Amino acid sequence: MKTLVILGACGTSREAWWVLWELDPEIRAVFVDDVTGRSALDLGGREVPVVQDWNFDGVRESLGDGDPDSFREFVCGMGDPRVKRIVVEKALRAGLRPAPTVVAKGVYLCPTIRVGRGGFIHRNSAFTADITLGDYVTVHTATMGHDAVVGDYCTLGACSLLTGHTRLGEGVFLGCGSVVRPRTQIAAWVTVGINAAVVRDVTEEGVTIAGVPARILKPKAPQAGEGCAAPPPDDTPAPLCRMEEDGADHGHDPL
Ligand SMILES: CC(C)(COP(=O)(O)OP(=O)(O)OC[C@H]1O[C@@H](n2cnc3c(N)ncnc32)[C@H](O)[C@@H]1OP(=O)(O)O)[C@@H](O)C(=O)NCCC(=O)NCCS
Repeated sequence: MKTLVILGACGTSREAWWVLWELDPEIRAVFVDDVTGRSALDLGGREVPVVQDWNFDGVRESLGDGDPDSFREFVCGMGDPRVKRIVVEKALRAGLRPAPTVVAKGVYLCPTIRVGRGGFIHRNSAFTADITLGDYVTVHTATMGHDAVVGDYCTLGACSLLTGHTRLGEGVFLGCGSVVRPRTQIAAWVTVGINAAVVRDVTEEGVTIAGVPARILKPKAPQAGEGCAAPPPDDTPAPLCRMEEDGADHGHDPL
């Protein structure tokens, strides 16, 4: 816990830092962000480095007391599933490995939940019986009913609600206050708008849906080079949820 790399240096990454600080005020963490050009963030008067080039040697010396094992594990600070995937792949290529998903204080976790790695669960979230969360999942104060299955890279916005036996494919983004009806499935890389009520299966990958009941607002996000700031993942169809296929711990080996 003391020598973590937080992917991203955005607002939600700062929120993540404060969750870590609450778990351990002695925390030694750095952000990594090779886009914004920031070299440090001010966290309540503490200057926390932003590493910009995937080389952590400097901070191992300055913050990790030269310990070669420090700053080897990461969690995702950012919330955009597509950006998470791009940055996670960079982190794995750089030889980092995902830390166990961080669980904030004040989260209710039923003992039968299965949680992947590299993700972040913020305060006041609640997870009931037999839920499965993949890797790199971000949860902002959401509630999840029994037997829900959440794919890798998903992000659940504040006050979203997944009811029983719901399934989110890889990279689904649930907007704040959205609700998913029991036994409903949402395909990979779908974006669900604020306050949507998802009452039917969403089978088309990558679309944006919104409203009550939710309907398609936008077709699949454009591919890289077609006006999308962060290139979306390729078109390889992802199984709805890898976790269920093999039941294994999905710690990824560095590439
Ligand atoms: C759904 C969403 C992704 C669409 O964003 P966008 O692609 O930029 O779309 P726009 O804002 O251009 O809106 C397009 C149309 O959809 C409507 N719309 C946008 N969001 C909507 C929503 N949640 N529900 C209903 N209608 C919505 C807009 O009013 C607009 O309608 P109009 O064309 O008649 O004026 C976005 O509005 C949203 O809800 N994002 C979730 C944010 C969130 O929860 N963040 C989590 C932080 S923890």
